[in-house]
Amino acid sequence: MVKIGNIELPDFPLLLAPMEDVSDPPFRALCKEQGADVVYTEFISSEGLIRDAAKSVMKLDIYEKERPVGIQIFGANLESMLQTIDIVEKSNPDIIDINFGCPVKKVVSKGAGAGILKDVCLMEQLTAEMVKRTNLPVTVKTRLGWDHDSIRIVEVAERLQDVGCAAISIHGRTRAQMYKGEADWKPIAEVKNNPRMHIPVFGNGDVDSPKRAMEMRDVYGLDGCMIGRATIGNPWFFKQVKHFFKTGEHLESVTLEERVEAARRHLQMAIDWKGETLGVFETRRHYTNYFKGIPNFKEYRMKMVTSDESKDVFDAFDEVLDAFSDYQFV
Ligand SMILES: Cc1cc2nc3c(=O)[nH]c(=O)nc-3n(C[C@H](O)[C@H](O)[C@H](O)COP(=O)(O)O)c2cc1C
Repeated sequence: MVKIGNIELPDFPLLLAPMEDVSDPPFRALCKEQGADVVYTEFISSEGLIRDAAKSVMKLDIYEKERPVGIQIFGANLESMLQTIDIVEKSNPDIIDINFGCPVKKVVSKGAGAGILKDVCLMEQLTAEMVKRTNLPVTVKTRLGWDHDSIRIVEVAERLQDVGCAAISIHGRTRAQMYKGEADWKPIAEVKNNPRMHIPVFGNGDVDSPKRAMEMRDVYGLDGCMIGRATIGNPWFFKQVKHFFKTGEHLESVTLEERVEAARRHLQMAIDWKGETLGVFETRRHYTNYFKGIPNFKEYRMKMVTSDESKDVFDAFDEVLDAFSDYQFV
């Protein structure tokens, strides 16, 4: 069994990665239904939360049905991060996760996200103070290092553990790599093999098939894996991995009916959550992913992403069922 603080998880848990504009409550709920053991919110700016910026605050919403859920925050200023903890706790998450891995310029230029990999002492201090501020488990998501020449992830992970970090998820790329090249899981295995490590070490980066997840477990010996891109438009990925672990066989492809049903439920949950207008608007970005691969889909996609009323989007789903009933997903 794997534990994050007092949260008990099955062996080799599968975690939904935090993903901006993707990991919203409806999507997290769908992933949870399909077997995700822990889900994370997208990153939330500590400065935005303190200013009470509506967009940041809305990202704190969580459904009971998605637990255990971690709220991920980012920032580089200690006082702001501590205030953020107090705000985040009111949403009653199960975990607070610190983003020490975001590579984008506007974040790292402020010393936040992966920017902090240049100042491991600050990273350690922020983590230590945040752990002291809350009774919730604090986890960290980070990268291997700033660049290839400065990879010190074994030492970094140990230092974070020593100040009370409850689990660490490591994306097997450096900041300099952004999303290029292949994720390297060997340094993550070195973290896991450090005899001083006792907190869970989760691997992340390029798990795009059940076989790769199995490799992370059996070849690299990690405690679980965090999965991002492979779940976009495919919340069934968790079920597919678990089925493969159990039987060694791949599940049948997800059918058109299941995809339409997921899109429908996603939209309905979004409307229930934030109302018709925002729900319709913000669910648009997910449709392409659910229906990826269907040829000559443009007409239907346009209807889904330009309609302002949910009724029209739901109609488009029905039309897709009629038009593509013969299409076989691979
Ligand atoms: C669209 C998108 C948004 C992301 N947003 C976040 C984020 O908010 N916080 C974070 O820690 N990582 C974020 N990431 C990085 C992922 O969590 C993950 O580390 C990365 O995609 C590698 O895992 P994968 O190969 O399984 O996708 C994002 C990635 C993508 C593709």
